[in-house]
Amino acid sequence: MTSPTRISVDRTALGAEVPRRLFGTFVEHMGRCVYDGIHSPDHATSDGAGFRADVQELVRELGATVVRYPGGNFVSGYRWEDGVGPRAERPVRLDAAWHSTETNEVGLHEFADWADAAGLEVMEAVNLGTRGVAEAADLLEYANHPSGTALSDRRRANGREEPFGIRLWCLGNEMDGPWQIGHKTADEYGRLAAESARMMRFLDPSVELVAAGSSNHEMPTFGEWERTVLRHTAGLVDHISVHAYYEEDPADAASFLASGVALDRYIGEVADIIDEVGAIGPDGRPIGISVDEWNVWNQTRWNEVDKPRVFTGDWPIAPRLIEDDYTVTDAVVVGSLLITLIRRSDRVSMANLAQLVNVIAPIRTEPGGGAAWRQTTFHPFALTAAAATGRVVHPRVDGATIDTARHGAVDAVDAVATVDGDAVTVLLAHRELDAATDVELDLGAVTDVEAVVLTIPDGGDRHTTNAAGAERVAPVALSVEVGADGILRFPLPPLAWARLRARLR
Ligand code: AHR
Repeated sequence: MTSPTRISVDRTALGAEVPRRLFGTFVEHMGRCVYDGIHSPDHATSDGAGFRADVQELVRELGATVVRYPGGNFVSGYRWEDGVGPRAERPVRLDAAWHSTETNEVGLHEFADWADAAGLEVMEAVNLGTRGVAEAADLLEYANHPSGTALSDRRRANGREEPFGIRLWCLGNEMDGPWQIGHKTADEYGRLAAESARMMRFLDPSVELVAAGSSNHEMPTFGEWERTVLRHTAGLVDHISVHAYYEEDPADAASFLASGVALDRYIGEVADIIDEVGAIGPDGRPIGISVDEWNVWNQTRWNEVDKPRVFTGDWPIAPRLIEDDYTVTDAVVVGSLLITLIRRSDRVSMANLAQLVNVIAPIRTEPGGGAAWRQTTFHPFALTAAAATGRVVHPRVDGATIDTARHGAVDAVDAVATVDGDAVTVLLAHRELDAATDVELDLGAVTDVEAVVLTIPDGGDRHTTNAAGAERVAPVALSVEVGADGILRFPLPPLAWARLRARLR
């Protein structure tokens, strides 16, 4: 047992409202996310359109609010017209982003219907890699204009009488990265994004637009990219993106477990640049930060092993790409990254866990008649999305700290709280690997306390993963003692993520 951890939540010190869009996710035409993932016409549970009902059920259970689509790197070579109209007439194309073959069996109509049934708001990305202003405007007119023009009537002829009414649009993807199809300098991209935004707003002033920020915090152009892009697009876009993936260096688990600290710094630096540039959106408010790709991803394995193999082979349909098996440690990191996102609700306007199914995903599937199951990371996401509503409260945490090689000394217990009417939620990540801590949590007077914890299962270790038919890592009840003094007391196991809910009295 390490030293005790005392946490106090001042329920009257209410911060920013937690945006519901913080619990977004992402479906890319990549690997087996769409084909063999959400869509699998041969599966026993599939509906008339070929979408798996068992996967849809897990998506609903996950409780995500938004879904970004159709990429990712894929969108930078995508022609949206390929995915509309009679399926038999849709062209088969090479997807240069992922060295795959795209059948276009699923496109805008099928995906929007699926998202609607899953209760997800679509966040559509336009191709600013190989394409530009005209094609972005065409897609918007096709999707959102009611009728009476060639494009809107084409949508109606394709079976969708009412407009899709898509509000959220990404202006390209990771255009700062040399791996991106149609990669651009900050000035080239900034101009194109600004002109695309201007045209899109002419057509539909209700759209909300996201400019592409840096692909990651370590990009050599980070900072200058944001400044330049924001100078071009201020007044025309509402959000700028942040993409952030974290991976474990096997020799330095402590730094990995503190990834939330790195994300917090990244968000803080982008917020400072927004303020420095004075970047205001069309609504007169500072441009928001859209963390529209975040997760744990073993990119070393992808770059050194899988990518060389995939990019020298043939052009398969829906190959297995970056199907990372998530461990208990990964789940605690994902839970902790969510704590950071909630804490930064003052600047983060939305966020998308990348991705949803099979590709670095909380949900996995097997093809044919195969199962669908929850990875370890499913749980912190679902439990947070269901309960972190209302306004943020920043708890005071007094306890042990952990020295990390990459992020300095960090709190062993990371915590955030939300208050929504009389409901209070506290989220905790315990980053200590070897010892439990006794927590004393002061929320003031509360009733109806409920608590769950996700940690190493009996007989497992911190590398334990889930598999089809073997969901070993799942939340269990956490026993909490409510003292006569109103303080909640409970032991937090090593390497754990926990959620407590209570009613304020
Ligand atoms: O999510 C996988 C990929 O990661 C996306 O296609 C790309 O935007 C990012 O680099």
